[in-house]
Amino acid sequence: MAYLTKGRLLIVDDEESITKVLERRFSREGYSCEVAADGAKAADQLKLHQFDVMITDVRMPNMDGMKLTEFAHSLDSSISIVVMTAFADLASAMEAIHKGAFDYHPKPVEFEKLAVVIANGVERARLVRERAEYTATLEKKVAERTKELEKKNLQLRKHFLETVTALVAATEVKDKYTEGHSKRVAANARALAGRIGFSPEELEGIYTAGLLHDMGKIGIPDEILLKPGIFSPEEREVMQDHTTFSAGILSNVEMFRDILHFVLYHHERYDGKGYPAGLSGDQIPLGARILSIADLFDAMTSTRPHKARITQDAAIEEMMSVAGTQVDPKLAREFVRLIRENLVVTEG
Ligand SMILES: [Fe+2]
Repeated sequence: MAYLTKGRLLIVDDEESITKVLERRFSREGYSCEVAADGAKAADQLKLHQFDVMITDVRMPNMDGMKLTEFAHSLDSSISIVVMTAFADLASAMEAIHKGAFDYHPKPVEFEKLAVVIANGVERARLVRERAEYTATLEKKVAERTKELEKKNLQLRKHFLETVTALVAATEVKDKYTEGHSKRVAANARALAGRIGFSPEELEGIYTAGLLHDMGKIGIPDEILLKPGIFSPEEREVMQDHTTFSAGILSNVEMFRDILHFVLYHHERYDGKGYPAGLSGDQIPLGARILSIADLFDAMTSTRPHKARITQDAAIEEMMSVAGTQVDPKLAREFVRLIRENLVVTEG
């Protein structure tokens, strides 16, 4: 940064002989100087202009040097203040330093020494301002970058949701009986997860897992997937492959890594008689146990080709009858509470 003068000085003393001689001397050295005859007049000057250094006497009428020091700093913390005191009044000088003065200079004035103090004071004031400016610029840059990242993040999330929606639509085109099923499972799984204290990110994860849990059905032959009657044991085995198909598809996408196991194990049973791995109890990932309950509830309360829907009361009864065998009993009880509180969604 280029400066037009060596620095802007404010010289404050009620002795005119001192202000005059200082003004003349330092103007000649290339400083731009203003003069004030007491603290109050100096305060007015400080309000109008920014100074690099203020040289001030301590004992003055209207406002003394101590009060002026405090006032100057309250306006501009970068100003360097040099207090001039009679040698006998060293205590005042110390107090001024304590209050934030940059340095002190004993009277009578020794120009050579005072010139060094002033030059250092100007340098300090400019460094403080440059640092503040740098910090402000940096903060502004950080704020701008954060905003940009937030915007990008929002776009990414939007694309992510569009991708998920497209994947769900692809599954549902094939099997019209699952239409809406994924969304209801997602919503109900999120409601249950919210009840047991999942974080906002985890809730988003379980919701996405709910949307995608059956997408592997895309790989099941139509004659089995769309069969209206009961499956033969062989057909059931093929149908069960949809869990590994779902997980296989999702494993190719980094952002689905955290929910892969929820999807893969959503047909595990609490008693270990489920598929694909026969996991039991807490071996089954919590997200998968949640999905399994939401999935079961929706299967019970929605119309399928080979069975009619049942009422919510009947669903509650059935859910509790399989608590501890098919599903996690604690989660089942929590889910029943959600049903009773009307916090779940059902078909139609
Ligand atoms: Fe499934």
